[in-house]
Parts: sequence; structure tokens; C-alpha cells
Amino acid sequence: MSQRSRFKPIERNLAMELVRVTEAGALAAARYMGLGDKELVDQAAVDAMRHTLDGISMDGVVVIGEGEKDEAPMLYVGERIGDGSSPAVDIAVDPIDGTTLLSKGLPGAIAVIAMSAQGTMHVPGAVFYMDKIAVGPDAKDAIDITAPVKDNLAAVAKALGRKMAEVTVVVLDRPRHAQLLKDIREAGARVKLITDGDVAAGIQAALPGSEVDVLMGIGGTTEGVLTAAAFRCVGGAIQCKPWPRDDDERRAAAAAGLDLEHVYPAEELVSGDDVFFAATGASTGELLRGVRFFGGGAETQSLVMRSRSGTTRWIEATHNFERLDKIRYATNG
Ligand code: FBP
Repeated sequence: MSQRSRFKPIERNLAMELVRVTEAGALAAARYMGLGDKELVDQAAVDAMRHTLDGISMDGVVVIGEGEKDEAPMLYVGERIGDGSSPAVDIAVDPIDGTTLLSKGLPGAIAVIAMSAQGTMHVPGAVFYMDKIAVGPDAKDAIDITAPVKDNLAAVAKALGRKMAEVTVVVLDRPRHAQLLKDIREAGARVKLITDGDVAAGIQAALPGSEVDVLMGIGGTTEGVLTAAAFRCVGGAIQCKPWPRDDDERRAAAAAGLDLEHVYPAEELVSGDDVFFAATGASTGELLRGVRFFGGGAETQSLVMRSRSGTTRWIEATHNFERLDKIRYATNG
């Protein structure tokens, strides 16, 4: 047997194509940083990402996007993207997670996308929010979202071999988290409050060497699925539980057959065995550097991951606007 024949053919890594999509989204949206208009940054990212997605050969269907077809002309849920060729994939996209952050010029806005085989992303979309707890690989067996906060944190501290005062919990700064914050503080852990962006915060909790160990609290359902996709790649554990806002959502959940007591691990939200994830910084945050413009171009930093190989790539890119424009507008004269 020759040396070559021991190897399977190199598989296509869709994440390497996805990073062009998130780069395009971050580059476009970052132009409108600090103008105070979150719709504008979102729209710029949507346009750029939708255009770039068209260049990927696939049979894609949007399962997380900009909303229903009647409210979003592009990247709406159910939209088919690609030339219809293999692979058939579900697409989850948050053009900018942290639109408010970027519109105010605050740190931590990212462009995000994930893909896995068609039918393998489960979005409990009848409820807008989910309660979440997420930790990195060393503490993955220590969490139970149904257990008291102090028990979770004690188990995490033990798994990490740290004192409680050396464990940092990241929480969205919202009135709904008053009791959670009280519980964390009484347990004796450190708290890091963020105003937006729990996808980046969740990923930080999973990555070694970050200053965050646990994500806790209630955030967007769609963001939970995107974070789960990242966790399938990077390891660690996330558990999410639907958190209905009111009786209307409780009724909608019941009509959709959603069990509000069900705890979703990452493997259930994104069950495919080959998950692709990419994120690019729009405004500089702790996870990713934001877009840096220079004369004639810009630099971006992205995180690119694939679950099957377990490879995590940090991609620094330099973009030349003059040459890009020539490619982009070549056929239009
Ligand atoms: P958008 O930028 O997409 O609006 O989301 C920002 C975000 O902070 C998410 O990261 C988080 O999951 C969600 O909003 C929290 O929702 P809310 O602001 O309603 O508490």
C-alpha cells in the first residue's frame, strides 16, 4: 500500500468559506460604528453577508436569520441560499451580535455564522429567550442548569481547581438578572457584567486562558443556538432552557409542542457531526479585535472552527478595497 492511499481525501472545510462571509459583514457594518443607528449597522452586515454567501456552493437553508419572510427581505428564516449543490446545510446567522454595541462604538460586536447538515439545527423559536449556563472543557461535567447557582459554581470551582473567588461569571446586565447576581455574589464568585453580546461571552467561557469561566443568565434563543454551534467545535458545555416572557409565549410554546422544562445541551441544539463556525470582530472586544481601517483597506480578526476536526483558527486578514472593488464590480463595468 502506498503512503498516499492511507489517507482519505481532504474534506472541504466550509468554515474556511464562512470566514469570508463574517469578514464581509464586519467590514461593512464597522463603517457605521458609533452613528447611533443599530438598524444601519445590521442592514450593512446583512447586505454584505447575503452577497458573500451567494459565492458558496451549497444547498443552504436559513434557520436563524433576520426574522420571518414578511419582515426581512434577506436572510429570512426559510430562505434558500447557494446553487443547490452539495452539501445541504442549515445556516444560522447573526449578522451582528451586539448591534447596539457597534452603533455606540462600544467593544464586543461580532459578525457570526454557523452551518451544519440540513435538519440538524434545532431552534426552540417559540420563545425569544433561553436561560443559559456555559463553561469550558475542564468544567463540562460540573454544570446543571436545574441546580442552584451556588451548587453550580461550587462544582465549577472544584473542577477548575480554584477558590470560588477566583471564578469569573459573565452575565448580561439586565433587571431580570437581579436574583441571579445576588446568588452569584453570595456564592462568592467574581462577576463580569456585559451590556450585550452573549455569543462572544459564551465562547470566551469555553476558551482556555480567557478571563471568563462561566456564562450564566437569560439571553436570546437564537444566540443560544449559535453559541451551541461554537461549543460543538471548541468543546466545553452549554445548557439552555426556554424562558418564556409571558403567557402569550407560554401558549405559543405549548402550541409548538415545546417542553419548557427541557434542558437543551449543545448536542441537541446543533446535532450535526460536522459543524462549521466563523465570527469576525466588528468593534474590538475581549474575544476578537474589531475592524481597523487604514488608507485603502482594513484589517480584520476572525475565529474559525470546525467540530469534526476540532481545529480552531484565528485568522488575521488584510483587505485591499481597490482590488476588492475591481472583483466585485467587474461585470458591471
Ligand atoms: P442583537 O445585537 O442581535 O440585538 O443582540 C444583542 C444581545 O445582547 C444578545 O447577545 C443577547 O442574547 C440578547 O441581545 C439579549 O436580549 P435583550 O437585549 O433583549 O436582553
